[in-house]
Amino acid sequence: MSNQTEKLSRNERTIKEEIPGPRGHLLLGSLPEIQGDRLGFLLESARRYGPMMKFRAGPTTFLVVNSPEGVQHILQTNNHNYTKQSVGFDPLRDLLGNGLLLSDGDFWLKQRRLMQPAFHRQRIKAFEGMIMEETEGMLAEWESQADSGEAVNLTREMMRLTLSIITRALFSDRVGDESGAIGKSITVLLEDSVYRFDHPFYPPRWVPTERNRRYGRAKADLFGVIDGIIERRKGSSGEYGDLLDMLMGARDEESGEGMSSEQLRYETVTLFVAGHETTALLLSWTLYLLAQHPDARARLQTEVAEVLDRRTPSDTDLGDLTYTRMVLDEAMRLYPPAWLTNRKAVEADEICGYEIPAGAEVAISPYVTHRDPELWPGPEKFDPERFTPEKVAQRHRYAYFPFGGGPRLCIGNNFALLEAMLALARITQRYEMELAPGRPVEVEPLITLRPKDGPWMQLKVR
Ligand code: HEM
Repeated sequence: MSNQTEKLSRNERTIKEEIPGPRGHLLLGSLPEIQGDRLGFLLESARRYGPMMKFRAGPTTFLVVNSPEGVQHILQTNNHNYTKQSVGFDPLRDLLGNGLLLSDGDFWLKQRRLMQPAFHRQRIKAFEGMIMEETEGMLAEWESQADSGEAVNLTREMMRLTLSIITRALFSDRVGDESGAIGKSITVLLEDSVYRFDHPFYPPRWVPTERNRRYGRAKADLFGVIDGIIERRKGSSGEYGDLLDMLMGARDEESGEGMSSEQLRYETVTLFVAGHETTALLLSWTLYLLAQHPDARARLQTEVAEVLDRRTPSDTDLGDLTYTRMVLDEAMRLYPPAWLTNRKAVEADEICGYEIPAGAEVAISPYVTHRDPELWPGPEKFDPERFTPEKVAQRHRYAYFPFGGGPRLCIGNNFALLEAMLALARITQRYEMELAPGRPVEVEPLITLRPKDGPWMQLKVR
């Protein structure tokens, strides 16, 4: 049977067939396997069970949808039936409240309409100079490490860079956060959210355990800094030209009302959380892959040299840096920073011939679909050529979805790509990177897909 025919027959199963999946442990379900190797568990299950499978993590059963057809159904065709009220997001709810990532229905639509204009490509362009300034600052700091031969922790460096960039995009300057409380708090808060997913029986946050107290302090620090900035801004009229100005100036078309202080805080925290680590990881994984693939690196450097000579990249160059973009796309295929997302089915539905009960917990993972050998021959191989326009046109629209899709497509995707293209071009213009010997990189799937440690890189000025 050809791959295509096999796929069709897998997707046109008769309804009522039981969704396959591992039985797991009586109480814990598949938690031990998940805690041991979450990515391996999902990949292996996709190979074994096909377009849809189910597993239990402690008390909750999850349906995992792997095929592009199923993903499209959830994110686009029948997106109204799949809300963010999933237990998968519960650990983040306390932090992100009713911000754009977690809200639903009319409230979400109203907020999305208010915020969308600020993320339009033309508006985002205004951040170009600031992005380059921050990148140049980091590159200047690297000179001493390049001189001494000391390796740098690339992910840590990229996190610092993207945190400075999102902070300036939101607040023009670092005013009000001289101690770096935002970055420190966000790290503690996200670590705790992942811990809770893996330990569903851990005491709730109001119980004063040491972990819960640490979480409480980090949250109070973060909200304190952000609320302070918002309070000081009240009464000013859009003189900063940053994202907070836009959030504060946005008015509902019908009522003319603006956002409450609390909603402003949740939208701000959401943009921090959704926007900084994801972009840092895109850069980090891309540079890691380039260090292992000298041919691709040489080709990218040649393109950057031809398009830019030695000058600084700008928004108008992006259309000419086609190979650079293909490299980023392929890095997000292999290591999609937002590697898993969740939904809750409102009403009963059918996907790929399987019955979805009302209230079902549904998960989709770009990491898994991006490694389906039927869609991506030799899926483990790094090959930017997969992203020529011809090859892209031949694939299912949802064979690749690093930014999600449908109405809930990442609002910051243009911002992220501008940032990543400019920074990547400049970094590769200025430095050569080699992986430091004896420090292998392991993948750690937390809320985002991170390297466990590093990658540690040795730098050489070009
Ligand atoms: C490489 C970088 C990024 C990746 C891979 C990424 C990925 C994603 C994905 C997959 C979603 C959809 C989640 C879902 O369907 O459940 C999403 C949503 C979102 N992202 Fe991004 N993102 C990135 C950068 C950014 C940036 C820079 C910002 C803001 C400055 C941002 C803000 C958001 C917000 C607010 C949402 C929720 C949108 C909504 O539901 O209406 N992201 N992102």
